[in-house]
Amino acid sequence: MKLADNKATLSFSNGSPSVDLPVYQGSIGPDVVDIRKLYAQTGMFTYDPGFLSTAACQSAITYIDGDKGELLYRGYPIEQLATQCDYLDTCYLLLNGELPNTSQREDFHKLVINHTMVHEQMQMFLRGFRRDAHPMAVLTGLVGAMSAFYHDSTDVHNAQHREIAAIRLIAKMPTLVAMAHKYGAGQPYMYPQNNLSYAGNFLRMMFGTPCEEYKVSPVLERAMDRIFILHADHEQNASTSTVRLCGSSGTNPFAAIAAGVACLWGPAHGGANEAALNMLEQIQHDGGVAKVGEFVAKVKDKNSGVKLMGFGHRVYKNYDPRAKLMQQTCNEVLDELGLHNDPLFALAKALEKIALEDDYFVSRKLYPNVDFYSGIVQRAIGIPVKLFTGVFALARTVGWIAQLNEMIGDPEYKIGRPRQLFTGAVRRDVQPIAKR
Ligand code: CMC
Repeated sequence: MKLADNKATLSFSNGSPSVDLPVYQGSIGPDVVDIRKLYAQTGMFTYDPGFLSTAACQSAITYIDGDKGELLYRGYPIEQLATQCDYLDTCYLLLNGELPNTSQREDFHKLVINHTMVHEQMQMFLRGFRRDAHPMAVLTGLVGAMSAFYHDSTDVHNAQHREIAAIRLIAKMPTLVAMAHKYGAGQPYMYPQNNLSYAGNFLRMMFGTPCEEYKVSPVLERAMDRIFILHADHEQNASTSTVRLCGSSGTNPFAAIAAGVACLWGPAHGGANEAALNMLEQIQHDGGVAKVGEFVAKVKDKNSGVKLMGFGHRVYKNYDPRAKLMQQTCNEVLDELGLHNDPLFALAKALEKIALEDDYFVSRKLYPNVDFYSGIVQRAIGIPVKLFTGVFALARTVGWIAQLNEMIGDPEYKIGRPRQLFTGAVRRDVQPIAKR
């Protein structure tokens, strides 16, 4: 870490001596004040629920400029990666720090493709779930169970174990997500077919059946791949921080990633794409475009508890750059499938237009996020709404692994152990039950 020229000085109004705190500079983005010695020096903690002002780690993977609406993976703008690279190139980049050259690309693609099949016994494990279980519940279980199937890659402190666990997770997530879908639909599982692309293989495992040949549509394949690229990493969000915290205890990589899957499920995070689509369907059901004004009024009424799902972001206070790319993909997919008059898409456009003009949203800098459009694209492709967050988890797995590996390799890494401001009862004695 690079020390800045200036220091921060913390002073107290009660006469306690002030303390100097080092300031570090990143390559871009805000500087940080190093408070690691604050407790030792003052006996005080800092208070920052929700990490609004706290950098929990140093990282060289992903950078977001929320005001500009910029997203960089290892320095490369998301717009360039989404249009010039595929998802596996992006995985290589996130894991290794550089884009692959031709031979590295070929080797990496081969390596991942060689690991797409899951242990046959995984089917028995899957069978233990109810058929109507939510796919995210199933996936949390399946990913956690991988540590029971792949004993030879569970030591997070062993670089080789970490590497093979990374490849297994990236390669097998599409297979597991498709299996979770097929199990719920009561259809036979489709084994991976390794002459297809990563995205093409996923589409075939999702929508193919053993009864007939499945032809991968290049437009849908590209759309799927783009969804994967756009969701591959997003710096220290809730699920990534969960993976880091979970992994900081030295647990195995599969367990740490399963924790990330569980966190992602929530509607304020990865579950937002499912929630956004459910919201659109509900408005459609209640009267469609004509009811948009009424719905927006409800969103603006704080007492209603209704949020405009797919809008707003903790970091982006400008248009989410992923949303722009997803909007393009959305147009391509709707064209390809002849769904341009799809009422839900028209509804989404109407909602977006009102929200972008309405002072409530403008003044709070609430713009559409990636989930606003990714739900529509996934629905058009035929992915069931319940599976949207599973697709997000599939794509984000590489980001979680890259961040976990970065943490393990950081000489300053320690088990995560937040502190607290205690507001409960002070010491008291247990009274005999008759006196309570
Ligand atoms: N609809 C209506 N009002 C909103 C929304 C929304 N979607 N998002 C934020 N606000 C309001 C919020 O009520 C608050 O208003 P006020 O200042 O009057 O109290 C103000 O905007 C600031 O919101 P906040 O809750 O302080 O913002 P946050 O950074 O804590 O929350 C968020 C970010 C993503 C949780 C929130 O915007 C949200 O719940 N959005 C809907 C869910 C969603 O689409 N999530 C996907 C995030 S992108 C995918 C991912 O990375 O997982």
